[in-house]
Amino acid sequence: MLIRPRRNRTSAVIRDLVAETTLSAKDFIYPVFLKEVAGKEAIATMPGIYRHSLESCLHEVDRAVELGVHAFDFFPALPDSAKDATGTEALRRENFYLRCLSAIRQRFPEVYIMTDVALDPYSSDGHDGVVRNGKIVNDETVEILAQMAVLQAEAGASAVGPSDMMDGRVAAIRKALDKAGYTDTGIVSYTAKYASAFYGPFRDALDSAPKFGDKKTYQMNPANSREALREAALDEAEGADMLMVKPALSYLDIIAKVRAHTTLPIAAYNVSGEYSMIKAAAAAGICDHDRTMLEVLLSIKRAGADVILTYFALEAAQALKAI
Ligand code: PBG
Repeated sequence: MLIRPRRNRTSAVIRDLVAETTLSAKDFIYPVFLKEVAGKEAIATMPGIYRHSLESCLHEVDRAVELGVHAFDFFPALPDSAKDATGTEALRRENFYLRCLSAIRQRFPEVYIMTDVALDPYSSDGHDGVVRNGKIVNDETVEILAQMAVLQAEAGASAVGPSDMMDGRVAAIRKALDKAGYTDTGIVSYTAKYASAFYGPFRDALDSAPKFGDKKTYQMNPANSREALREAALDEAEGADMLMVKPALSYLDIIAKVRAHTTLPIAAYNVSGEYSMIKAAAAAGICDHDRTMLEVLLSIKRAGADVILTYFALEAAQALKAI
């Protein structure tokens, strides 16, 4: 036999030399949930993940930085009493979320703060946009999203993350940010966000499940991949700084396709259901927690993602130190 591929696998050193993909704590954005509570609240469907008070969140950010994780995506959980049909609370300058962002920015001037731009945490309908006659209206929502983005930039966001899937919102947000002088605030656009069953635990975390219907008139159909390229071309033309594919695991083909069609950095969101499935499987003794976690994260990088949003960020950073 002339050719023996196994020769390049004979030792740990040669395996590392020829490794095509690497994983580092610097690849991660850590999603963190905020709530006006005392201390922190466990989330039943997401073992190890909490809704943090501001104090607790500052502590969590500190712990992350210690582990080499310097990028965060913050999501607010609101009580029902603060929600209404148009998400009024989202635009209240002194709201809990904006106060938290400012405090985090003040305490940690160097960290990358990504924010969430969508109405679902603030919506009594549990939808990402304004609902009129049972429909999620696009253009009226986009105007609100653009104002949200400006308030978040003012509070210290490094980049805003429109997670809503309305048409034209990247251009509207870019225009509003620039007009307000925030030319350096980036846009990480949820470009190919699918109407997925894997968001279940996240909606528990925020108590944000839709009160009627589903999100299929704005989030993408899992059957489609060409459509992801169409969304990517639009977001790129509208001024996005990074394109996101979400969820990650059932959509590795989409990550690879978008990678081949853009020079922009690509982020992938390893979503709540993907996280909790591994937690459940490991707890049931079905597979090894750390090895499964690292294999899944590596697969997302291998598919073509530069950045991974993952609830595993701190555990993975810890596990990577040991390797
Ligand atoms: C909503 C939003 C969702 C997630 C992030 N932003 C859920 C949804 O669209 O219903 C899901 C994240 C996760 O599951 O981890 N704007």
